[in-house]
Amino acid sequence: MPRAYGIIGWPLGHTMSPALHNWGFAELGLDAHYTAWPLEPTDLPAFMERVRAEPIHGLSVTIPHKRAVMAHLDRISDRARAIGAVNTVYWDGKALYGENTDVIGVVAPLRGLDPLPRSAMVLGAGGAARAAVAGFLELGIPRVAVANRTQAKAEALAADFGVACVRWDERMDADWELICNTTPLGMSGDLEGRTPWNADRFATGAVAYDIVYNPLETRFLAEAGAAGCRTVSGLEMFLHQGLAQFRLWTGQDMDEAGARRLLLAALRS
Ligand code: ATR
Repeated sequence: MPRAYGIIGWPLGHTMSPALHNWGFAELGLDAHYTAWPLEPTDLPAFMERVRAEPIHGLSVTIPHKRAVMAHLDRISDRARAIGAVNTVYWDGKALYGENTDVIGVVAPLRGLDPLPRSAMVLGAGGAARAAVAGFLELGIPRVAVANRTQAKAEALAADFGVACVRWDERMDADWELICNTTPLGMSGDLEGRTPWNADRFATGAVAYDIVYNPLETRFLAEAGAAGCRTVSGLEMFLHQGLAQFRLWTGQDMDEAGARRLLLAALRS
């Protein structure tokens, strides 16, 4: 029997994770298979029993289970605890661990930047924003701020992490060196073509980072690029959170360039 891995979420919808991990297993000749498991919230406790009994060797965890799954684990990383969400479950010996590789994914594409941005504006205050704030603090960006349409949520997030909170209508008033969109503005569907930033408000030399990866080039990134900014697409975060999961599960590295090509092809098809 191949080792079992998979993703739990509800509704699961389309996910590129099975294609990514099954490609990695095949490339490295590992006898393992990754499955999409749509799972209703009420079924989570029984499923986590199954993870221990079978065993299931690793899980990707997505909405709405990222917080609830924590009660079913033996250990939780400091990083996942700080965010209050687990997106990866793996075994370390007999203990079931929870990690949050979204933070690793957010940070990875920025590691090579020289110099590092000295300020970052995070747009949005949901789970992705929490990962972005945690990641930028881990990276050592000295001035991190958050702005959100609903002010109270931005204030709560800012207080949790000890960062600044800027009013949504004042978000473009300062020259941020890194601007990170974690809202769904620009995503394919009803919000495609929308952007959280005005084209004439990008500071010279800024980095624009979109968590949205479909479309690959959102209006936010297109306008940032046209303004001479460096851009980072949401595909990089998705790729790197997945590479980090694969490493935790197998102790091996998937080929990064090949994995990126696979995801680009999937998005363009
Ligand atoms: P995720 O976990 O992916 O971050 P989420 O928790 O639903 O998703 O968070 C989505 C974020 O995008 C929220 O901060 C939301 O703002 P509100 O708190 O005001 O709801 C923000 N968002 C969603 N639609 C938006 C829009 N049309 N304009 C601006 N912000 C929006």
